[in-house]
Amino acid sequence: MATGKQQQAKLKTNNTIEEATMDQRLANKVAVITGAASGIGAATAKTFVEQGARVVLGDIQDELGASLTEALGGAEHATFCHCDVTDEQQVEALVETAVSQYGGIDIMFNCAGIVGAVGPMSTTPAAEWKLTIDIMLNGVFYGMKHASRHMKVAGSGSIISMSSTAGVMGGLGPHAYAAAKHAVVGMTKNLAAEVGSCGVRVNCIAPAGMATPMVADVLTGDHQKLDETIAALAEGSPLRGRAGLAQDVANAALWLASDESGYTSGLTLTVDAGATTGSTAAPPAFAEYEPMKREAGRTGVE
Ligand SMILES: NC(=O)c1ccc[n+]([C@@H]2O[C@H](COP(=O)([O-])OP(=O)(O)OC[C@H]3O[C@@H](n4cnc5c(N)ncnc54)[C@H](O)[C@@H]3O)[C@@H](O)[C@H]2O)c1
Repeated sequence: MATGKQQQAKLKTNNTIEEATMDQRLANKVAVITGAASGIGAATAKTFVEQGARVVLGDIQDELGASLTEALGGAEHATFCHCDVTDEQQVEALVETAVSQYGGIDIMFNCAGIVGAVGPMSTTPAAEWKLTIDIMLNGVFYGMKHASRHMKVAGSGSIISMSSTAGVMGGLGPHAYAAAKHAVVGMTKNLAAEVGSCGVRVNCIAPAGMATPMVADVLTGDHQKLDETIAALAEGSPLRGRAGLAQDVANAALWLASDESGYTSGLTLTVDAGATTGSTAAPPAFAEYEPMKREAGRTGVE
């Protein structure tokens, strides 16, 4: 006999749109977010709760995570668990918390990350390389593994992972970071191919530099200087005066988490003001009209 969840999934694949009010786009859904105490993870946790989801937040910053969870309304809406994503058992326990406390897992957002090893490859210590990969690649694997295990049985689910523009183009980030973020794009496509037949969708998000504590630390040397960071990012933005914010990524995650993206899987969704498609702060300056150029030596349509 089909469980309630399987019946729901059937309805969704039957070309019917589930009733959902626009202000509760994640009603009745349960989400797990790693790296949820700060920046993009924290903005997403807040957005998901506002949209009706119950959220299990995992992070290694216990005080920050616990106080955010309290601000989100406590156990009725959100639960914090210490979770170091380099430890598979802790990631598994995070997912199991969602199942035991809220009855299942509909959304997995693998968001935890660091800048990691920096500098030339020729001077990168192997230990720094390995830790960077451990957090941003192995951690995502553990999240995908344990979430998909439940979602395949349930017959539905949305797995979202953090890549980066440094995961779709060369030269935009440190080597280990770029390697991990490219791998997230590949794992996303491969897992999407595996679990699509079970009704599970798998996507990732590739933002450019967004104003979060991580980037503030890099740009200003102080992770709390968000205003200065926003000003610096706005200056170099392809969209005049517009810096990328944690909320921009949270909004992308919301769409991928909700049933509105129900036919989207395997996607790398860039949130970058067009940076990876050629937009820059100094666009090509097209002059006034001039006749079209055609075969060498000829112009115009006549
Ligand atoms: N901010 C950007 O410009 C940007 C751009 C592209 C991708 N990203 C990615 O977005 C994600 C979030 O970054 P952010 O900018 O919000 O940074 P952030 O530093 O504000 O948040 C990252 C969170 O991850 C947590 N974390 C670090 N190591 C962990 C571990 N081992 N286990 C569990 N949690 C851990 C941190 O404690 C922190 O709360 C990262 O994966 C990052 O690579 C960020």
